[in-house]
Amino acid sequence: MREITVLEDPGAAVADRLTEVAQQGGQIVLTGGSTPRHAYGLAAQRDADWSKATVWFSDERMVPPDHPESNFAMAAATLLSQLSKPPTVVRMQGELGADAAAGAYEALLRERLGPQPRFDLILLGVGPDSHTASLFPGKPELDERGRFATAVPIAGMEPQVPRVTLTFPVLNGAREVDFLVSGADKADAVARAFTEPPDPDAPAGRVRPSAGSLFVYLDEAAAAHL
Ligand code: 6PG
Repeated sequence: MREITVLEDPGAAVADRLTEVAQQGGQIVLTGGSTPRHAYGLAAQRDADWSKATVWFSDERMVPPDHPESNFAMAAATLLSQLSKPPTVVRMQGELGADAAAGAYEALLRERLGPQPRFDLILLGVGPDSHTASLFPGKPELDERGRFATAVPIAGMEPQVPRVTLTFPVLNGAREVDFLVSGADKADAVARAFTEPPDPDAPAGRVRPSAGSLFVYLDEAAAAHL
């Protein structure tokens, strides 16, 4: 199923879902960028028991874990370090370089989740070019079918550092994927990804969990062209 919800504060809805799945001890994927900061802050305020949950990442920039552009650093500052009962955290190691970090994450995914990872909740954003995670339009990583995590040597937009990203087989294997998108600069990308049929060149439109649910949480500005 797929459901698009337009809300004044879509981040609050996402904070609720994160909290619920964390309390159930779920396998959760967090994402980066600036939009989720607010949702992570709200989830931190709820201060639920995350101790049985495991937190993974959708993608990472190849910078050290305390770097201002690290997705892990953002999630740690806004949410993970604020919780009194924190989860297990499996981060992508930006300090290793993209090939090594992708290989290490692939190994961890297979070791902990088996040959067909099935996340309980994957949170994603959408870029103005309709990328999601670090799956950028026109890049070879879009066609990865065998690996769960792959190196992205050339990012499609700023910050121009190599990345590691989860791949479509993992994203589409999830029980639930939630997109959180806000702002007028995303309206075109949202329309390309979430109108029927989606634009095949819009990576976010290719996230369709094969046996799971897709929820799209938007503010009015991001939904303006739907
Ligand atoms: C990243 C993200 C990326 C992000 C979008 C939206 O590492 O940049 O994981 O996919 O979700 O670029 O980012 P903003 O919220 O900053 O617009």
